[in-house]
Amino acid sequence: MTQLGAVAWPPAPIRTARLVLRESEARDRAAFIELFASPEVGTYVGGSRPRDELERAVPEVPGRRPGLFVVELDGAMIGMVTLDRRDAERPGHVRPDAGETELGYMFLPEAWGCGYAAEACAAVLDWFAVALPGEPVVLSTQTANDRAMRLAAKLGFTEVARFEEYGAEQWFGVWSSGTPSG
Ligand SMILES: CC(C)(COP(=O)(O)OP(=O)(O)OC[C@H]1O[C@@H](n2cnc3c(N)ncnc32)[C@H](O)[C@@H]1OP(=O)(O)O)[C@@H](O)C(=O)NCCC(=O)NCCS
Repeated sequence: MTQLGAVAWPPAPIRTARLVLRESEARDRAAFIELFASPEVGTYVGGSRPRDELERAVPEVPGRRPGLFVVELDGAMIGMVTLDRRDAERPGHVRPDAGETELGYMFLPEAWGCGYAAEACAAVLDWFAVALPGEPVVLSTQTANDRAMRLAAKLGFTEVARFEEYGAEQWFGVWSSGTPSG
């Protein structure tokens, strides 16, 4: 089974028309705290956390792990795109041995509505398609999360299932290399 863990990390920074995708750095800490403290960002992803708690808990260089891309616009972090191994215990599978790679995205509200998330996710999927050809990527989001649902469709994810999780209806979709993204 080919997994994200087998891929060299970090890759060279990825440049798109407007953005740079790269590993996290200490200078991103304030933006990470902003992301996790924002009630708007947390609406469909389990809520936000108090800022003072985050100031204590967030490490000096937050989010430094394989699969986490910081998205930078004009030199500052505006969000992140993540690829993680989906917990085999969670509902929703597209392969018999589970352990699918899952896409996640989270952007600061002031950067919504400009197509940045779509541009960044498309670049991450393109990178993944070269790193692990033919390997599917899954995604789940609350069906009530209109923006996330629209983005998933735009990226070429197709519905596999809907189910209840965390007290809400979830949409579960899959994308494979060769599917148009962005
Ligand atoms: C989900 C999320 C990343 C979507 O952000 P977004 O900015 O709406 O997504 P996109 O990058 O696809 O941008 C689409 C919008 O940009 C607009 N846009 C403006 N300029 C554009 C351009 N040059 N290219 C493309 N789209 C453009 C589109 O018209 C669209 O606007 P609309 O929503 O009013 O129709 C964001 O809402 C978020 O971070 N939410 C909180 C975290 C979360 O819920 N994550 C999902 C967990 S599963």
